[in-house]
Amino acid sequence: MSDFTGTDVYQESFDPKAYLEDYFRFGEGSLGDGFLKFALKQYSDVFSSGNVKGGTLIDVGSGPTIHQMLSACEHFEEIIATDYTDKNLEELEKWLKNKPGAFDWSPVLKYVCELEGDREKWMEKQERLRRAVKQVLKCDVMKSNPLEPVTLPQADCLLSSECLEGACKDQAAYRSALKNISTLLRPGGHLVLCGVLNTNYYMVGKVKFFSLCLDEAFLRDALQAEGYVIEHMTIAQREEKSMQEMCDYERSYLIVARKQG
Ligand SMILES: C[S@@+](CC[C@H](N)C(=O)[O-])C[C@H]1O[C@@H](n2cnc3c(N)ncnc32)[C@H](O)[C@@H]1O
Repeated sequence: MSDFTGTDVYQESFDPKAYLEDYFRFGEGSLGDGFLKFALKQYSDVFSSGNVKGGTLIDVGSGPTIHQMLSACEHFEEIIATDYTDKNLEELEKWLKNKPGAFDWSPVLKYVCELEGDREKWMEKQERLRRAVKQVLKCDVMKSNPLEPVTLPQADCLLSSECLEGACKDQAAYRSALKNISTLLRPGGHLVLCGVLNTNYYMVGKVKFFSLCLDEAFLRDALQAEGYVIEHMTIAQREEKSMQEMCDYERSYLIVARKQG
């Protein structure tokens, strides 16, 4: 077990540049490669199925990353990105506004476009995502309105990747965060949840962050208790066994669940 790292630690010590460099230099052999290949394929399958689409999608705990929105942006008119820390929101804005120093997502963009049938269309997708993200908002999943003081109409879809594991100190907090974010989703809308199982920590630069150790049974129970029907769940074993010192995750998961009316 690792010590819990709360929002104050994220605000102070979560370095978006280090997170991007450590996990998202896709294709360069980092620990992130295996997880990304899994997640990008899952997102591509889920969103191209045509079952998950609509007007607005809210990405909860976006961090400084965009990979999770790349397939979704073809199926939603508007995306709202959110995170707790100012530095993550700034890093995201930098990429959205194509400012100098923004992270180079082109290897990931090309990979997603290849999955979707045409690798050459990556610059079009880049522009599409930049147009689709209409707002970048502060969010705290532990608040009953996570976007306080902003209130938004309920969205058609919530997406969240590797946020709740980090934000919640125990299972009770996870259930409560799930309740909080669910207020942002309309009945009948979809929650797409992606992350890692059996994980205790992950490193960002030299700082160790807590991860709540989750298993499939708990996730199923928490979602059902919150009024979701799980429509799809995929779990994949970690292939890369080295680099345990960076993160001890054992499996990756992606869940699509529908909020009951
Ligand atoms: C491991 S990163 C995941 C970032 C991104 N979604 C991804 O898939 O790579 C965890 C994120 O959760 C955010 N976070 C931590 N506590 C939070 C809270 N209480 N409310 C909202 N976001 C939080 C952090 O700022 C960080 O960006």
